[in-house]
Amino acid sequence: MRARIDGIVHDIKAVWFENGKVMMIDQRELPAKVVLVGFDDYLDVAEAIRNMTTRGAPSIGATAAYAMCLAALKGCDIQKAAKDVKAARPTANDLFYAVDYMCDRLSKGEDPVKAADGYAQMMIDKCTLIGEYGSALIKDGMKVMTHCNAGALATVDVGTALAPMRKAWAQGKRFFVYASETRPRLQGMQLTAWELNQEGIDHAIIPDGASAYYMSKGVDLIITGADRIAANGDFANKIGTFDKAIVAKHFGIPFYVAAPISTFDFSTATGEGIVIEQRAEEEVTMIGDRRIAPVGSKALNPAFDVTPAELVTGFITEKGILKPDEISKVRR
Ligand code: MRU
Repeated sequence: MRARIDGIVHDIKAVWFENGKVMMIDQRELPAKVVLVGFDDYLDVAEAIRNMTTRGAPSIGATAAYAMCLAALKGCDIQKAAKDVKAARPTANDLFYAVDYMCDRLSKGEDPVKAADGYAQMMIDKCTLIGEYGSALIKDGMKVMTHCNAGALATVDVGTALAPMRKAWAQGKRFFVYASETRPRLQGMQLTAWELNQEGIDHAIIPDGASAYYMSKGVDLIITGADRIAANGDFANKIGTFDKAIVAKHFGIPFYVAAPISTFDFSTATGEGIVIEQRAEEEVTMIGDRRIAPVGSKALNPAFDVTPAELVTGFITEKGILKPDEISKVRR
């Protein structure tokens, strides 16, 4: 992804391996500054997933692959490391997919760095294909809406929901993106808007509560990412996605979900089986160090919601665009 650091444009990934360390962009510092952090202990990498230094399902997966790489390089117990890394967060399927992928490769004697680098590159290749398939949906003059961050930061590079936008913009199409801010952690405002800015893609940040208003005025297409997609096409994504899908149905706006096959969980039959992460209430009641809620009020903070498959127009995957009733075709 393009990142301007001290006035110089760099081509950078969200996570990579260098000189024995897992390096990543500290997403908590964006958009104010691009801060790089590095870890050489797999438990610190698992903590970076937990505390959201790195985030977004495919990036969580690649980071987990590198955590397993460190565990193998240091001769740690691989089964214990797999358990520790999988415990970092509960919802994104890519975390579990990546750890299982690494356990398989390591058990076959593959070089740990080669296996983890291969995993990260595989995500970039899948996202590139998602961009190619999805860009056909974007036409000149369209208004496109997205939620949370499903860009390069969330996927090692390129993005899932943002991949079709990057590709279409590079093809010379000109369109407008509504990025909803995504309370409480503001991924839409701080990460998606930052990426769109770096790429020069025309956009505006909107409060989450303004989505229906703008849909009523004319949105042509909605593309979000996903954290886990059940076998029937119900999917979990950042809290607020479900509302958008319902409103999109009301206005007849096509609603697409962009995700690699690593996000599909065929062992979970429906959305009912997806574990939803509940995060600290301080993420809702505080802004920085300042409490903005009345003392004595509780807050609830589910990180994700589940949108039923019937509200999805199609899944944009590396295998093409699939209707919800076609996803069993790509079962691993
Ligand atoms: O809690 P986060 O920041 O990890 O959640 C990120 C999302 O929900 C993204 O929309 C999702 O991972 C889409 S995948 C690129």
